[in-house]
Amino acid sequence: MELQINDKTYQITSDAETPLLWVIRDELGMTGTKYGCGLAQCGACSVMVDGEVLRSCVMPVGAMAGRKVTTIEAVTADPVGQKVVDAWVRHQVPQCGYCQSGQVMAATALLKQVAQPSDEQIVGAMVNLCRCGTYNAIKAAMHELSGGTGAPAAAAAATTPAAPAAADGINKAAVAAAAVVGVGAVAAIQWSKTQKARAGKEQA
Ligand code: FES
Ligand code: FES
Repeated sequence: MELQINDKTYQITSDAETPLLWVIRDELGMTGTKYGCGLAQCGACSVMVDGEVLRSCVMPVGAMAGRKVTTIEAVTADPVGQKVVDAWVRHQVPQCGYCQSGQVMAATALLKQVAQPSDEQIVGAMVNLCRCGTYNAIKAAMHELSGGTGAPAAAAAATTPAAPAAADGINKAAVAAAAVVGVGAVAAIQWSKTQKARAGKEQA
């Protein structure tokens, strides 16, 4: 089938049921999009499809026919994506970085739909998990991007009433996701190994 990614058209050979994530990573070699849980829980695999954020680990590639996929590799080709990346750098958001391509895709998708989102809209959209706990830095970057003052992360956390509730909600989500991952991890990892072996490529 044909797959449109980052304004290019690719002929892919993967089965239609193959998750989009593995086509992106293994067949096309774009390894910026990450595998976290494989269960649509963490958001590490987030890409944009027709401008909306989507978790590619659970989306069959066959569902992408006629749609436009954007990955982190091309996010700065979009002016909104470039602004997000610039803000991420200014606020020094990434720590280990593993979740950040998904975070940037989620932020870009939100800001393309709502130029100046409210704090509630930001909290509702930025639900990806981060094991390094970069939530306050993400919040500060998003505050700036939404037309706020761009306050440092510590100040943003201290002056925004919604921050404790949001952080608590994220932590509960992380615990719930971890429990789900614990149950499904073995099967997911085994499935991943099979796909990697088939593709014959080393993961980045
Ligand atoms: S890897 Fe897709 S949501 Fe976690
Ligand atoms: S920066 Fe490490 S997991 Fe988010």
